[in-house]
Amino acid sequence: MVVVQTNSSDLSAVLEPISQDMAVLTQRLSSNLIDDNPFIDELLDQVFRAGGKRIRPGLVLLCHRATCKEDSNSTDAVEQQLHITLAALTELIHTASLVHDDVIDRADVRRGQTTVHTQWSEKIAVLLGDLLFAQASVCLSQLESPQIVGIYGRVLGDLCAGEIRQMRQQYSLDVNWESYIHKSYCKTASLFSAGCRSAAILNNCSAEIIQQLAEYGKNLGICFQITDDLLDVTGNSDVLGKKTGGDLAQGIITAPALAVLERKDEPANKLAHLINTRAVNSTEGLEEALDLIQRYGGVEDTRALCRKYASQAKDNLKVIPNSSYRDSLDGAIEYLLHRVS
Ligand code: FPP
Ligand code: MG
Repeated sequence: MVVVQTNSSDLSAVLEPISQDMAVLTQRLSSNLIDDNPFIDELLDQVFRAGGKRIRPGLVLLCHRATCKEDSNSTDAVEQQLHITLAALTELIHTASLVHDDVIDRADVRRGQTTVHTQWSEKIAVLLGDLLFAQASVCLSQLESPQIVGIYGRVLGDLCAGEIRQMRQQYSLDVNWESYIHKSYCKTASLFSAGCRSAAILNNCSAEIIQQLAEYGKNLGICFQITDDLLDVTGNSDVLGKKTGGDLAQGIITAPALAVLERKDEPANKLAHLINTRAVNSTEGLEEALDLIQRYGGVEDTRALCRKYASQAKDNLKVIPNSSYRDSLDGAIEYLLHRVS
């Protein structure tokens, strides 16, 4: 067996062992399962042309390859087709939620491309998001697994509930670690976990492996959301494609701010005041808030929280046999940590 050395800063190295599957996936994503209409083809092309990291379908395919039975032929066409379908529906749901999210957030650009609602209209964007959910439902039916239908039904509910929770908590100092982690699970980790768990279910893995991969996806997904929230404070706005501090400016309290607020000292009171009075909406107020986070441990504490979830995800992989695919699942954890190191 050839073990691929993954460079922790490079996601393409992590996805290298499944590069052929990823190429098949790319074709699958733009195929129009619903309506033979050239405008819909154009819209699908627009949302998938921009690419994105494809980390969710990549994890599905890695979990599939890492848990294939040794006596099964891993290039078996039917078996592979099911996992490509699972990977595709996972990316379809993610993309649909982003098309809707950009309408809610009034975002003009996503992945360096003009958003659908900006280029066409909000009505088209809402309907395209719905159409992508419809494509995902067709894929889901092809798996012929009521268990996986239930898992993904729950994910759709989590995505909506996470978004509603976040809206209700804007500028609220009632956010605590438990509600923050729960929201991060709903918005991000639920879909990660569903993909990893379902890949193991399709491979008829043992209950233990299914459970550990579900936990791996959950821990990695929470880690992913926390790194995203940290980059919102520390990241380079040119690289991120959005302004630094955007979450705080919108009154969204994430890990770096929570870490300062929980000190309950003078800097915590100052930060609470800036949020409470919505001073974070102004450039000076936001700069002061970001400065408090940088100076009073918000960044370091958040890095430590990322490492905690990363370490739990690493432990979850112990039940998986050694392979280049397992190395890549491990490499995905390192990749996230490297983003915020
Ligand atoms: C990005 O959040 C958005 C999500 C993780 C999911 C949003 C979910 C919905 C809009 C509900 C989807 C609807 C159904 C029917 C499932 P963000 O705004 O924090 O991240 P960003 O900076 O990438 O926009
Ligand atoms: Mg958004």
